[in-house]
Formats: sequence, C-alpha cells, structure tokens
Amino acid sequence: MTAMLEISHVTRRFEGLVAVDDVSFMLLRGEILGLIGPNGAGKSTLVSLISGTLAPSSGDILFEGRSIVRLPAYRRARLGIGRTFQIMRPFPGLSVLDNVAVGALFGRGGGQVQMARAREQARAQLDFVGLAKNIDQRADELGGPGRKRLELAKALAMKPKVLLCDEVMAGLNQVEIEDVIEVIRKVRNEGISVLVIEHVIKAIRSLSDRLLVLNHGVKIAEGDPGRVLSNQTVVEAYLGKRRA
Ligand SMILES: Nc1ncnc2c1ncn2[C@@H]1O[C@H](COP(=O)(O)OP(=O)(O)OP(=O)(O)O)[C@@H](O)[C@H]1O
Ligand SMILES: [Mg+2]
Repeated sequence: MTAMLEISHVTRRFEGLVAVDDVSFMLLRGEILGLIGPNGAGKSTLVSLISGTLAPSSGDILFEGRSIVRLPAYRRARLGIGRTFQIMRPFPGLSVLDNVAVGALFGRGGGQVQMARAREQARAQLDFVGLAKNIDQRADELGGPGRKRLELAKALAMKPKVLLCDEVMAGLNQVEIEDVIEVIRKVRNEGISVLVIEHVIKAIRSLSDRLLVLNHGVKIAEGDPGRVLSNQTVVEAYLGKRRA
C-alpha cells in the first residue's frame, strides 16, 4: 500500500496551547480514513496543516513521497490536495455553478482551465453531488444540506487526489447523512483517497477503512474502526464523555 500523505511528528502550538501534539499517521492510496475526537481535539487544525492554511511548529508532511510543508496552500491544491471547510465559505453573491467553477479554475491543472470548461466541469461535479437542480441559484440561497454538498462539489472540482472532509455531515438528518455517505463512497471509487472528520459515529464506522482518534492534540488510537471504538481509552476520552 502506498501512502498518499505521510504526517510525521507534526506539532502545532497556539501561544501556550498545543493544538496538535507530535502526531504521525499515513493516508493510504484509495482508503477512507476516519478522524474523530472531542471538540477542540485538533482535527480541523490538522486539516489546515495538511492543506497549507496553517504551518506546523515542527514536523513534516509528505504528499506522494515529497515534503510539501513549505509550499503555500494554492500550490498544495494544484498538486491534488482538496479540502472542505467546517465553517462553509461559499462566495454568496455567485451562483452555485460559479462557486464550483472557481474550484475548477484553481485546482489541479489550474491556470490553464478556461471559464467555459470550468463551468462544464462544475456542472458535472454538481450532478455528482446531487445539486444539479440548484445550479442557477445564488449560493447563499441554499439551505444547510445544500451548502454541505456545495462544499464537496467545490473541493471535487479541484480534481484532488486526496480529499479532506471536515464535518460535511454536521447538522444533517439521517437521510441526508446517508446521501453524503454515498457521495463519499463514490469519491473513493473514483480513486480519490479521503480523510473524513465526523462526529456521527454510526456514519464514520460504516464509512472508514481505518479510524484515527485525537484527544487534546494527541493521537490516542488508530486502526480497525470496530476495535478502535471499543478501545477503553477512546471510550473514556470521547464516547463516554459524549454520552454523559
Ligand atoms: N487560530 C487559532 N488560534 C488560537 N487557537 C486556536 C486556533 N485554531 C484552533 N485553536 C485551538 O486549537 C484547539 C484545536 O482546535 P480545532 O479547531 O482544531 O479542534 P477540532 O478538533 O476541530 O474541534 P471541533 O470538533 O469543535 O471542530 C482548540 O483548543 C482551539 O481553540
Ligand atoms: Mg473542527
């Protein structure tokens, strides 16, 4: 199994706080890796470190075997690292179609894509995530579930090799969650390796090939989802707390 991403002893400090503490793991080619942990565990910080909107205090990050830790975010996107944002960031005045076309313009092969071609790719991507009917709406007219799909379509339009999904199911109902799970499975079937952050345990268990748990910035477990979720340390740090 080849590693798409290799996170090696990565630490990120904010003033006195260690948000990510000496974390190492790999995202393998073609896998769905789940990432869970209590609020403030450092999950979103980790995604920002990988996508390049934050720099680590120490440690290295390799993409397809080469260090990317000094590359700016746009260069990483062009190499094939796509992400969604936990706090959605649509361009509110633009149509749903053009929000996604922007992704196509700035992604892999970016700089060479014409607007007409970008819109064509955006249309295909919106169809893929189930937003085909909404292409002419303004992005800020979409409801919560629509915006989550839009985030996914935007990231996918960048033609990533690796997709980092930060809570794309938060606030969705059971049926909507099932739909998003299906989309993520389809993404993987297209050959994209996926890191999924999610609080919905049932969803993450059924989706993930492997599961990684962060607590206070520290990796406390990694491996088979069933085994990780019954691990005593994980139950105490995360599941127990959430039941309380
Ligand atoms: N830009 C920042 N400046 C200072 N502290 C930050 C910053 N970003 C995150 N933190 C802190 O780092 C810690 C980890 O935050 P992070 O957002 O990564 O957690 P998370 O696991 O994504 O949580 P949640 O499940 O609530 O989304 C938190 O204590 C947070 O307050
Ligand atoms: Mg977060």
